Amino acid sequence: MREITPKRIREMKGKEKITMVTAYDYPSALLADKAGIDIVFVGDSLGMVVYGEPNTLNVSMEQMVFHTRAVAKAVKRALVLADMPFSSYEVSVEEGVKNAVRLIQAGADAVKIEGGADHEKLVRKLVRMGIPVMGHTGLTPQRYLRLGGYRLMGETEEEIEEILRDAKALERAGAFAVVLEFTLADVAKLVTEEVSIPTIGIGSGPWVDGQVLVWHDLLGIYENVPPFVKKYADLSSIIRLALERYREEVKSGKFPAKEHYWEYQDKEDFERKA
Ligand code: KIV
Ligand code: NA
Repeated sequence: MREITPKRIREMKGKEKITMVTAYDYPSALLADKAGIDIVFVGDSLGMVVYGEPNTLNVSMEQMVFHTRAVAKAVKRALVLADMPFSSYEVSVEEGVKNAVRLIQAGADAVKIEGGADHEKLVRKLVRMGIPVMGHTGLTPQRYLRLGGYRLMGETEEEIEEILRDAKALERAGAFAVVLEFTLADVAKLVTEEVSIPTIGIGSGPWVDGQVLVWHDLLGIYENVPPFVKKYADLSSIIRLALERYREEVKSGKFPAKEHYWEYQDKEDFERKA
C-alpha cells in the first residue's frame, strides 16, 4: 500500500494543505511522486490535453484504464486517484461499480466521480465494498453541454444550494474528499466550513483544504489554459526550442557528432569484413 491513503488525506483537513496534480503517463507520474505531491490524479481532462478533444465527453473507460495503469506503475508514495469518465457511472449503480473496479484493478487507490447528491447510492456502495471515492462539484465539466460551456459557478442561490447539497451528500455517503471546481471563493469557503471532509479547489480560491491543477496547464504545455491557472513553467517554449535545434543540427549535419556513433578504428579492418 502506498504511503498516502484516503485516511491520511482526511486527517490533513485543518492541519496541512493537500496537493494534487494530474498525470497521465509513467514519466510524469514519476516526477509528481518524486516532487512529494500528495495525490497523483489520472483526470478525464486527458481527453482534452492528451487527445485534443474540445471537452471530456468522449473519454472512454479503456483510455482511463490504460493511463491509470501507466501512472500506477510509477507512483510509490502518493495516492493514485482515477477519474470515472462520462457515462461510466450515471446509467446504473451496477455499471458504476463494475467500472470503478476496473480502475482499481488497473492500480488506482481511489476513484473520482462528478456530482454528489445524484450519486449518493453509488458512492455508499463503493465505499462499503472498499473503494475510496472522491466527489466533484461546482463546475462539473461532464455537464459541459447543459452548462453551456465552462463558467464560474456559485453565483446564484440555486447553484450555491446545489454545491452544498452535493458536498453534504458526498460526506454522508462516505466520500473521503471533494473537488470544488471554479466556484466563487466565498462559496468554496462556506462548503469547506460546512463539511468534515477535505475540499480540494481548482479555481475556487484559497479557503479550501487543498489545490489541484492540470499537468499541462501548470507546466505551460497546453495552449488553452483556464484563467485561474498559475503557470509554474513554460515548457512549451523549452520543448519547441529543443526540437528546432535538433531539426537544424540534422539539416546542417552537426548531429550526430563523433560522440554519438561508433565505427571501426581501422578502415582496412572494416573492408576486410565487408
Ligand atoms: O480531470 C481533471 O483534470 C479534473 C480536475 C480539473 C479536478 O477533474
Ligand atoms: Na475530471
